[in-house]
Amino acid sequence: MEIVILDDSEKVAERAADILEDYVRRGATLGLATGSTPLHTYQALIRRHREEGLSFADCHTFLLDEYIGLSAQHEQSYRETIRREFTRHIDIPDTKVHGPDGSAEDLQAAAEMYEQQMAAAGGIDIQTLGVGRNGHIGFNEPGSSLVSRTRVKTLHPHTVQDNARFFGSPQDVPIHALTQGLGTITEAGHLMLLATGETKAEAVAAMVEGPLAAVCPASVLQCHPRATIICDEAAAAHLKYRDYYRAALATKPSWQHH
Ligand code: GLP
Repeated sequence: MEIVILDDSEKVAERAADILEDYVRRGATLGLATGSTPLHTYQALIRRHREEGLSFADCHTFLLDEYIGLSAQHEQSYRETIRREFTRHIDIPDTKVHGPDGSAEDLQAAAEMYEQQMAAAGGIDIQTLGVGRNGHIGFNEPGSSLVSRTRVKTLHPHTVQDNARFFGSPQDVPIHALTQGLGTITEAGHLMLLATGETKAEAVAAMVEGPLAAVCPASVLQCHPRATIICDEAAAAHLKYRDYYRAALATKPSWQHH
């Protein structure tokens, strides 16, 4: 894993945007995450689109997950959120912004169809990820199989509580979601996980330095050949080897990629 520790969330966003920009220039298939953490990264990419002509016209995008029971047009559906916060500000048509259909009557069929759509697009080249306080990625809560595929998951009460800020009240937050599984996510060519703020410090330490375990779904990144974890000082605060990660990155020889 490449652990990149930067001063603050703005630097995290710029570094993440730099990495994504390389993929965008190649017309890659981008895996997108919702949540507040990647918003600054998306804003940096929107700015590069407007000011530097960065074009997303050849890209496809796939969302990690979707609430069950909200229509795609609901303002808090992840499909609408990513449209509002990112894709409607760049040159990518809605037809190239894909997400699992959380309003489908047959959710199992919708999950299978989503897997097929990703495969038909040639898979995800780079998957952007955030992390929940309890170590979840997508909506793969603790206990998720490390080889799981897209399916329905029940949200942990802490996740519902954390996401209540986007809804009128905690009662309005759906308690189920359709999410790419950990096996699905780890098929992406490159995983880029962003974490900022002290509330993520425990999850980051468990993910990077804890055992590979379903109880910390993000620990599955330990098994990926190309995982980049970009965090600010606050989120890195519980990492035992943080000085080593910093030094290793600062002295990385040009011939060494990962
Ligand atoms: C949600 C999303 C995750 C996201 C997590 C953290 O549960 N399903 O994809 O990573 O929240 O969100 P935030 O970045 O707002 O802390």
